[in-house]
Amino acid sequence: MTTDRDRAGQDVPSQSEGESNTSERRRRWTAAIHDAETRALVEQDARYFLHQSISTPCLSALRRAEGIWIEDLAGRRYMDFHGNNVHHIGYGHPRLKEAIKAQLDELPFAPRRFTSEPVVALARKLAGISPGALSKVLFTTGGSDAIEVALKVARAATGRHKTVSFWDSFHGASFGGASVGGEQLFRSGPVGPLLPGSEHVAPFTCYRCPYGYPDRDGRPQLELCHMTCANFVRYVLEKEGDVAAVIAEPARAVPYLPPPGFWQAVRQACDDHGALLIFDEIPTGLGRTGRMFACEHEAVVPDILVLGKALGGGMLPIAATLCRPGLDAAGAWALGHYTHEKNPVTARAALTTIEIIEQEGLVENAAEVGSRALERLQDLKDRHRLVGDVRGRGLLLGLELVVDRESKEPAGEAAEQVLYLALDRGLSFKTTMGNVLTLTPPLTISVAEMDWALDILDRCLGEAG
Ligand SMILES: Cc1ncc(COP(=O)(O)O)c(C=O)c1O
Repeated sequence: MTTDRDRAGQDVPSQSEGESNTSERRRRWTAAIHDAETRALVEQDARYFLHQSISTPCLSALRRAEGIWIEDLAGRRYMDFHGNNVHHIGYGHPRLKEAIKAQLDELPFAPRRFTSEPVVALARKLAGISPGALSKVLFTTGGSDAIEVALKVARAATGRHKTVSFWDSFHGASFGGASVGGEQLFRSGPVGPLLPGSEHVAPFTCYRCPYGYPDRDGRPQLELCHMTCANFVRYVLEKEGDVAAVIAEPARAVPYLPPPGFWQAVRQACDDHGALLIFDEIPTGLGRTGRMFACEHEAVVPDILVLGKALGGGMLPIAATLCRPGLDAAGAWALGHYTHEKNPVTARAALTTIEIIEQEGLVENAAEVGSRALERLQDLKDRHRLVGDVRGRGLLLGLELVVDRESKEPAGEAAEQVLYLALDRGLSFKTTMGNVLTLTPPLTISVAEMDWALDILDRCLGEAG
């Protein structure tokens, strides 16, 4: 594993060579691509921002974003297949800009103790579209804060403090989020002790089953493994006996999809042991997987659902913690007493974003374009030995690159090479876990645009290795 040396002189592990902001390939790419203006801005950025892995120093600098495109200072355009999962409706949607402007003119802020029409309308809308009866909500500015609220609600409602979550998961950068998260990069290092009682179990990653069971073309062989990953959640809930909640992403954004029946088994285990089930749908919610919520594929309703990212339409920061009414049990305390808890402008942005998603049929588009893309990815796998596994749902797609299909040795070097080759041809995506090319385009993308992007990927895979 490579390391980034932070300012305090401690070694912080990099998540992956492909995403590292210090790799040699990246240095070569930026040296070739940056013009004087870009170089100066990136240097200024690195001068004034705290350095952190996979973020600062930056790769390059942007001037505009529109639809599925981002554009750098030199006018180079890239299809944005990353977008931090905020860009479901595409960048700069005109209707959203209008709605935000109108809201700014009328009521730009509401101090605490006052409500307003947009925040109530958004709460009602979320209650209307969410699965089950999740009808009590708190808004926060970012996803990590919304995770904190979920953890506090779970503690207050159950009188317990322990959690069970999954290694390799991500739930945000706050102390609570980092504690229940399972990515080493966000947990270890110089920040010190995390929340007590945060237990972790091995995740569902069937292509690389942590329990050692073999997969069949990326899919689990349930007759062999008997879903040990779900059984182990039950085991821990039973042994501990006082767990407040299981918290997880119903579909991992890597991506990794659960084996069929996984969440139903975990839901049952939670019910049997008095633990709540919290689904973090910050990246997957609002249509990314071809359903409004990823948990709808599993026919499982959580007790608490957390949304964020795309909720602000790729323009403003807003997240939400949605709970079933029975969890509204801490009215005498302040659970999520945030300054922008009832910001009318961010609420208007979220409300309009959901309306755009519904009225433009973006969930259906994600399902349709996504399933065609998955077929094409399968074809890429058939033709490129480098591709070990292809997986995804809707427009949450990924290709895992391996040095050798038998040993499944991760091809981190090749993944990084493909990343920069694709950037050179106008396609931007991120690598996850070092060797997974993760593709999350806006849900507005057309079949033709997706084909164009996959043609680029095809050529880059051919050149890499
Ligand atoms: C699954 C998941 N949970 C939580 C978060 C944290 O959200 P935010 O960065 O808005 O705090 C993220 C962000 O990437 C995420 O992907």
